[in-house]
Amino acid sequence: MSVFGQLPPRVRVVEVGPRDGLQNESASVRTADKVRLIDLLSESGLQHIEATSFVSPHAVPQFADAGEVMGAIQPREGVTYSALVPNLRGMRRALESGVREIAVFTGATDGFTRHNINMTVEESLSAFAPVLGLARAESVRVRGYVSVAFGCPYDGRVLPEQVLDVARRLFDLGVHEVSLGDTIGVATPNQVPEVVGPVLEEVGADRVAVHFHDTRGTALANALAALLLGVSTFDSAAAGLGGCPYAPGASGNLATEDLLYMLHGMGIETGVDIEKIAAASRFILNVLGRAPGSKYLQACG
Ligand code: HMG
Ligand code: MG
Repeated sequence: MSVFGQLPPRVRVVEVGPRDGLQNESASVRTADKVRLIDLLSESGLQHIEATSFVSPHAVPQFADAGEVMGAIQPREGVTYSALVPNLRGMRRALESGVREIAVFTGATDGFTRHNINMTVEESLSAFAPVLGLARAESVRVRGYVSVAFGCPYDGRVLPEQVLDVARRLFDLGVHEVSLGDTIGVATPNQVPEVVGPVLEEVGADRVAVHFHDTRGTALANALAALLLGVSTFDSAAAGLGGCPYAPGASGNLATEDLLYMLHGMGIETGVDIEKIAAASRFILNVLGRAPGSKYLQACG
């Protein structure tokens, strides 16, 4: 046993770079480059890649080509390629593109959810009901995001009960897993047991993921706090790209290579090759003309 006590021996990494990583980029990325990024990530041993987003192209022009991206990637056996879906329209587009797992997304506050998807939390849950119905009929798995779980750019403080309530409602609708998001990267490690703990206690570690943004440099510390709680599913983005265009001040996700470096150093298995992730990160940074955002790439080039 480690000095930290019992830790999960294995962690599942959900790579959100092609979706969260690119949605905040104002310059349009070529479809072929999105496809190449996903294909490079597919070689790393990842089991889950959030590949794109079937949202309104008025809201996020970057994903107007979501269907083309899904049609052009080279799917690997054993890898799930999921996509964000905000409504029935998005669900139909996703199904037409052969998507077998989707994610619906709401938030812990009305302020954020209105800005992000033009609905209150309550309205979003009502809008998801037929999406989940169609998903069930088509045997498509559904993840549910609860954004601004640790603080909201519009409504400020968020109570853990608000997060638990929305998570419960998503499970009642039929999602298999919730991902609790620190959308604007304000969380500190003490908040992790407060916010994640109650959800974890209710549904167990195999149904809860955490999704940290590194806006203030606390993402890895928060990931460690989640690990100590027993969380074993972590969202992260290659090269530390990312951010929600409807959350002012939001910036990059926890970088996949930084997460892997910490986990592997602690003897926790992921099945993911850090060097293959680094190669995918270098590729997309080159496309974007961006310097490395992850500590791992800064250190290792
Ligand atoms: P709205 O304007 O209320 O919707 O937007 P609408 O039904 O009135 O539609 C407006 C227009 O969009 C219409 O087109 C629709 O046809 C079209 P028009 O007739 O004006 O030309 N439209 C669509 N087109 C294609 N696919 C669709 C679709 N839906 C409508 N699915 C809506 C509401 C939800 C659609 C919009 O606000 C939206 O798409 N928002 C997405 C915002 C977004 O992607 N945010 C980032 C993802 S969330 C996130 O990053 C957080 C996360 O990472 C976790 C964390 O960090 O916490 C997940
Ligand atoms: Mg995010």
